[in-house]
Amino acid sequence: MEQKRYRITLTVNGRLHEVEVEPRERLLDVIRYKLRYTGTKECCGTGDCGACTVLLDDKPVNSCLVLAISANGKSITTVEGIAKDGELHPIQRAFAEQGAVQCGFCTPGFIVNSYALLKENPNPDIDTICYWLAGNLCRCTGYQKIIKAVLAAAEMINKQTNLLKVDD
Ligand code: FES
Ligand code: FES
Repeated sequence: MEQKRYRITLTVNGRLHEVEVEPRERLLDVIRYKLRYTGTKECCGTGDCGACTVLLDDKPVNSCLVLAISANGKSITTVEGIAKDGELHPIQRAFAEQGAVQCGFCTPGFIVNSYALLKENPNPDIDTICYWLAGNLCRCTGYQKIIKAVLAAAEMINKQTNLLKVDD
């Protein structure tokens, strides 16, 4: 029997999309295969690795565990939405500069989740970073460089904010 389909709207990285989904379709599949935001990766498919992390109404979620239909009308940020006007976000620059990327499969999830952390807490200490990123697994870097990258990004963001205050 053919599954009933529903038309939903998703705002992805500020762009409104209308898409037809079956009730059992995962948000991850809709983002990657229907809307072609392929930066979001699938690794475990069971909520254990964080490779599929996106922001759903500004909160990080594992998109492999979210039904697309439950995201109807909501706003999603994927790794493609982090850079602005062709400029890498400090968290992206810091990952590259600190060597926090090896195979890169986990990287979009780490970037999106670190971005959410720095929005909520622009001065995280190492324990806070480890706690926040506990749901993101990396099999290459050993995590030290990832932690260093988040600290470096926080420093860059704080410097930028202080410069803007001086300019005011
Ligand atoms: S692919 Fe979603 S948590 Fe691993
Ligand atoms: S860089 Fe390879 S899994 Fe993280």
